[in-house]
Amino acid sequence: MKQTVPDFDRGRLAELHAVEEDRFVELHPGSAELAADAREHLLAGVPMPWMTRWPGAFPLFVAEANGARITDVDGNEYVDFCLGDTGAMTGHALPQVADAIARQAERGITTMLPTTDAAWVADELARRFRLPSWQMAMTATDANRFVLRFARHLTGRPKVCVMDWCYHGTVDETLAILDSAGQVVARPGSLGAQVDPALTTRVVPFNDLDALDTALANGDVAAVLMEPALTNIGIVLPEPGYLEGVRELTRRHGTLLVIDETHTICAGPGGCTAAWDLEPDFFVIGKPIAGGVPAAAYGMTADIAATLQDPLNGHEADVSGIGGTLTASALALAATRATLSNALLDDDYAVMVPLATRWTDGVAGVIDDAGLAWTVQRLGCRAEYWFCPPPRNGAEAAAAVDEELDAFMHLWAMNRGILLTPFHNMALLSPFHTESAVDRHTEVFAAAVAALLN
Ligand SMILES: Cc1ncc(COP(=O)(O)O)c(C=O)c1O
Repeated sequence: MKQTVPDFDRGRLAELHAVEEDRFVELHPGSAELAADAREHLLAGVPMPWMTRWPGAFPLFVAEANGARITDVDGNEYVDFCLGDTGAMTGHALPQVADAIARQAERGITTMLPTTDAAWVADELARRFRLPSWQMAMTATDANRFVLRFARHLTGRPKVCVMDWCYHGTVDETLAILDSAGQVVARPGSLGAQVDPALTTRVVPFNDLDALDTALANGDVAAVLMEPALTNIGIVLPEPGYLEGVRELTRRHGTLLVIDETHTICAGPGGCTAAWDLEPDFFVIGKPIAGGVPAAAYGMTADIAATLQDPLNGHEADVSGIGGTLTASALALAATRATLSNALLDDDYAVMVPLATRWTDGVAGVIDDAGLAWTVQRLGCRAEYWFCPPPRNGAEAAAAVDEELDAFMHLWAMNRGILLTPFHNMALLSPFHTESAVDRHTEVFAAAVAALLN
């Protein structure tokens, strides 16, 4: 029978991991020194908590990131399959974006007035994502928060519905899961919830239309907020007919459908919405659209836009709960224009997707040869391996997380010049990756499996 990693091998895993921990410390004296300094005045030694999630005793300190490569302060070079957790999916330091930023910085970074890039950006978003009316945000979190406010305003309904084990940023209503009794509870790890999420949120398993029907039947749900494929608890693809069913049910129950394509932009230049002909009421995109500069956007249908004109033009628009002082800054708009003009285009996906396929083929070959019950999954240029058969929903995916094995695989790879996204085992391929970089990952992965099963 195929196996995940048998229990009797846990001792071996711990031994191998300890060797890799020592190796990491030896390879990174400069990062060790900087980490010691950083611990003095930075909470948890890092400027943002997710940076503690990398393997190794301390974070790598980056000297330079370019294309698909990162060089650390000790001169170690890495093939970067994390790409800033999608923030740099275009590849690091795109020259056209760097130029646009430099030019704009000399002409003013933020003025709270639109620049000549504003309408171009909105036109391009409308072309790519097939919705006619757009607003900017600083982050996808902000965009989701604004859209949920709009949805409650438009429908007069109090609740939102999300998928079990989803992630849409630090949006209070979405940090909720189902417990084993099917009740809505705060997601493990979520700190200081504003209110009990059971009051604000219904949670349903992905790929379960009956559960969604029940969740919407009360008529109190303003919006379903979802990714078209889950990407944040591993890649969980929609089953045939599922997304059509979601659209039909949301329409039938008068609930707005918000599709968040912040990660699923990996599927193509127009995300899954264009690739799969989805018809959201609101569309959210963040992370890579400005080549790594903070910027996000949300689009809406013409009907919704017509209804929202008044409140947004009103005397109190500045306290509407929508917007933000640095949002749609001249810098963000210039970076977004440069990114959308030069990256995330058909020609880029024509390179990225075959590279991601090569990555998954390589990993699948190793898994097969080793007779393991592991899976590899792909959506466009995003790929990921799992230590279990393909999960159907977020709870199945969450139940299969193996933190010890994750930690080992990531550290093993990092010590051999490969960076994976530190949350689960995810890889993103940019146009700057090469076949030999992908093959190097396959080699390193194969060596880790061989060491584990030895
Ligand atoms: C689908 C999705 N939406 C929104 C967000 C939030 O993005 P940000 O942290 O840039 O606000 C994330 C972050 O991972 C995400 O994966």
